[in-house]
Amino acid sequence: MTDRSTHRKHGIGTKNSQNDDSLILAIESSCDETAVAVVRGGRRILSSEIASQIEMHRIYGGVVPEIASRKHAEVIDGLSALAIRNAGISLADIDAVAVTFAPGLIGALLVGLNYAKGVAMALDVPLIPVHHIRGHVAANYLAYPDLEPPFMCLVASGGHTLLLGVDGYTDYRVIGSTRDDAAGETFDKAARVLGIGYPGGKVLDSLSAGANPDAYFLPRAKVEGSPFDMSFSGLKTAIINLVHNAEQKGAELDLPGLAASICKAISDQIVPRAVNACREYGYKKLCAAGGVVANSVLRADLAREASAAGLDLYVPPVSLCGDNAAMIGSQAFYEWAAGSIADMEINAYATLSADYLFGKLISN
Ligand code: KG4
Ligand code: ZN
Repeated sequence: MTDRSTHRKHGIGTKNSQNDDSLILAIESSCDETAVAVVRGGRRILSSEIASQIEMHRIYGGVVPEIASRKHAEVIDGLSALAIRNAGISLADIDAVAVTFAPGLIGALLVGLNYAKGVAMALDVPLIPVHHIRGHVAANYLAYPDLEPPFMCLVASGGHTLLLGVDGYTDYRVIGSTRDDAAGETFDKAARVLGIGYPGGKVLDSLSAGANPDAYFLPRAKVEGSPFDMSFSGLKTAIINLVHNAEQKGAELDLPGLAASICKAISDQIVPRAVNACREYGYKKLCAAGGVVANSVLRADLAREASAAGLDLYVPPVSLCGDNAAMIGSQAFYEWAAGSIADMEINAYATLSADYLFGKLISN
């Protein structure tokens, strides 16, 4: 554990030392899950609490930002107390506070950020801002304690679909990304138009089990001149048209077949690009991250294609794919090591690319 007197001397906003025993209290509130975790040395989860708002947003078929902010504010303090209690530590043991500061719903982010500022200030420990997508990537450090960069990481979540070159813990480059909708967004929209619930990915995944992935023809888009970029808007439109046509004709849909066809169409866009990008850019390790990586078709396709290409594949358990705060606590350890410590002026950002440079960000 770090020497508390060091913190007192330097205060918030300066670089303090961290080591394998450092305890980080991590806070995540970028979307519809409030999460707090305690992580030791960037690799060990001592506690990880999640208060999901999904039931609340389900009524509206999607996340309502105003409700999200309000719910975060209601539960964040109690959830922090629970995370500390379940970690078997006391608040005074915390060496640093980490928080997701970008990207996400701005009101939701601000609840977590302001709370984290308050705790860091009260404890007189460093405040470490963490990029949500880098957090997703770091779920792999928790699942595979010996994993180190460099590697390629496929990130597929509700708002992002990316191929990232992770050349160091805080050294990122964007190799491919979706030009329009994210994979998770496509799942959610498909489920919405089918009237089968929110969020859609999990429902469609369950429905697809054992069904024919060729039951329906769905497009696989290519982005001209950008082999590693993706596009899901055509697929989304094709699904909407298919459902509306069936409704107009009074025709019954083969729901499991359609679910399997959607899972396959999404996986077919992502998996070959991830594997080819590893080959093209010389990465031997392929990691995966984000809520959509819970998808069983995607996981099976990744395992098969990575093995055929001779890549080492890292896929976190489903429990670490969706939003959680443990992943934020893991990445925070490396941001801290790189000196990315914030002061009370730090703001939240609704959008920010994963390859941002901290020094440049705070000097603007
Ligand atoms: O990473 P995440 O929890 O939150 C964001 O940062 O967006 O990802 C949420 C997304 C949602 O779009 C949800 O439908 C999708 O992950 N998802 C799935 C599955 N479980 C969650 N998509 C496909 N198959 C699943 N099993
Ligand atoms: Zn996420």
